[in-house]
Amino acid sequence: MSARILVVEDEAAIRLALRGLLRKDGYAVELAESAEAAFRRLESETFDLVLTDLALGRGGSGMDVLRASKAHCEETPVVVITAHGSEKIAVEAMKLGAEDYVPKPFDNDELRLLLKRALERTQLWRENRWLMERVERDYGFGSLIGSGAGMREVFETIRKVAETDLSVLVLGESGTGKELVAQALHQCGSRSSRPFVAVNCAAISAELVESELFGHERGAFTGADARRIGRFEAAQGGTIFLDEIGDMAPATQAKVLRVLQERCLERVGGREEIQVDVRVIAATHRDLAKEVEAGRFREDLYYRLKVVELRIPPLRERVEDLPALALRFCEQLAERLERPRKTLSQEALSALAHHRWPGNVRELRNVIEQAAVLSSGEVIEAADLRLESAASAAEPSREPGSVSRSAAPADSELSFRDAKRQANEAFERDFLLRALHAHAGNVSRTAEAIGMVRQSLQQKIRELGLRETRSDESSDE
Ligand SMILES: Nc1ncnc2c1ncn2[C@@H]1O[C@H](COP(=O)(O)OP(=O)(O)OP(=O)(O)O)[C@@H](O)[C@H]1O
Ligand SMILES: [Mg+2]
Repeated sequence: MSARILVVEDEAAIRLALRGLLRKDGYAVELAESAEAAFRRLESETFDLVLTDLALGRGGSGMDVLRASKAHCEETPVVVITAHGSEKIAVEAMKLGAEDYVPKPFDNDELRLLLKRALERTQLWRENRWLMERVERDYGFGSLIGSGAGMREVFETIRKVAETDLSVLVLGESGTGKELVAQALHQCGSRSSRPFVAVNCAAISAELVESELFGHERGAFTGADARRIGRFEAAQGGTIFLDEIGDMAPATQAKVLRVLQERCLERVGGREEIQVDVRVIAATHRDLAKEVEAGRFREDLYYRLKVVELRIPPLRERVEDLPALALRFCEQLAERLERPRKTLSQEALSALAHHRWPGNVRELRNVIEQAAVLSSGEVIEAADLRLESAASAAEPSREPGSVSRSAAPADSELSFRDAKRQANEAFERDFLLRALHAHAGNVSRTAEAIGMVRQSLQQKIRELGLRETRSDESSDE
C-alpha cells in the first residue's frame, strides 16, 4: 500500500507542484491550504507523513501543525519546510519532534530522498515496536526473553518448580542466562521476599570458601577478628544460588553436601549447630554428569542438586529469540545512557541469525551494545555489528597461539577506528591465547603471569570467545 502524505502549504502553486512531485513517487497525497484545514484532517485521519510549510499565513503556523500532528499521532513523522535562512526555527521544530526540515527553495530530488528516508525510518520503528509489544505480551518471563520452543519450555519449568522447595540444577553454556533463570526461580516462588544470595564457587579461593559459605567465629583463624555470617546463613529463609558449582573443590563439595542433608551447619571455629532453611539452586557450564564420571564431582551431591534439571539451550539453537533479545538490549542501553533507542535493519537481524554465538546471550549483548554506541545513525546496520571477527574468534580449529588472519585489518574499506579496533582485538586474542597456552590453560597462573586480575581475564576469555580454560582450573586456587 502506498504511503499517505499530508501536504500543508498555503501557496497554491507550490502545493500543487508538491502534489505532482510526490504522486510520481507513488505516494497518495492529500492537501491542506492552511493550518486550520490541516487540524481538521489530522483530527479524523492518520497519515504516514506530514509535510508542512512553517509560514502558513493567518490561522496558525507550521509549528502549530507540527504540535497538532504530534498530539494526535506521536509516531507520524513531520517534515517542515523553512524559509531560506531560518535555521533557528528549524532547530526549534526539531526540538518539538519534527523528523527533518528542508529549506526553501528546495531541490526536488533532495526532498524526495528525505521523505523516502523518513518513511523508511518510521516503518522500521513500527515493526520494531510491534515486535517489542509481542515480546512483552507473549514471551517475557521477568527479565528473561525467549519466544521459541526452547525458552518456552524453560519458562514452563520455572513456573512449575518455582513454588516448590526442590533443588534445581541449571545447566547451559557460558552466557546462556543461568543466573537470570536462578533469579526468576526465586522471584516466582514463595521465598521472593527473602534474600537471594549468589555465590560464585569458581571465584572463591579454597582457603576462604568454608568461611565464605558457612561463616566463622571470632578467632577461628589468623585474621578472623570478628564473627562472620556465611552465605548460607545470609540466605536464611530465601534462596542460595551456587553458581559454577562444577568448579567446587572436592573438600568443599563434601561440606556442602552435609549442609544440604542435615539442613544445619557450624561456623568455622564454632560449635553451635545452626539450622538453615534455604532453597538451593546450582548452576554450571560444565557437563556435570561427565565430571561425576571422571571422579571430579561427588555423585551424591550431584543427585541432591539435580532433583530438577533445567537445561538452557545455547543461542545458536534458538535463533528465533534473536530479534527480541537484540531489541531489548537496544532498549536497555538507551535507558542506561538516556539516549534514544536505536533499531536494527533487516540485514542486521539476518546477520545475527547467521552467527554462531559461542558466547551466547552475553556475547549478543556485547555485540549489540557496541554497535549501538559506535554506529552513527539511528539504525544499526549489518556492518555495524562487526560479526566477522567475532565469528573467527569462535573458530574451533584454530591452534592456540596462531595469529588470527580474518581479524587482521586487511579490509581497506574500514575506517581507521574500525581497523584499529579489529587489530586491537586480534592482538588481544593472540596474546591471551599464547599466554594461556604457556600456562596449560590455567587461568589463575596466566592472570598472574601477565599481570591481570583473574576475574578480568575470565571476562576477556568469555568476551573473545576463547575456550582455553582447563577443566580443573579451580583446584589451582
Ligand atoms: N533470556 C534472556 N533474556 C534476556 N537477557 C538475557 C537472557 N539470557 C541471558 N541474558 C543476559 O545475558 C547475560 C548473561 O546472562 P547470565 O549471566 O545469566 O548467564 P550465565 O549462563 O550465568 O553465564 P556464565 O556461565 O558466563 O556465568 C546477562 O547480561 C543477562 O542479562
Ligand atoms: Mg553465570
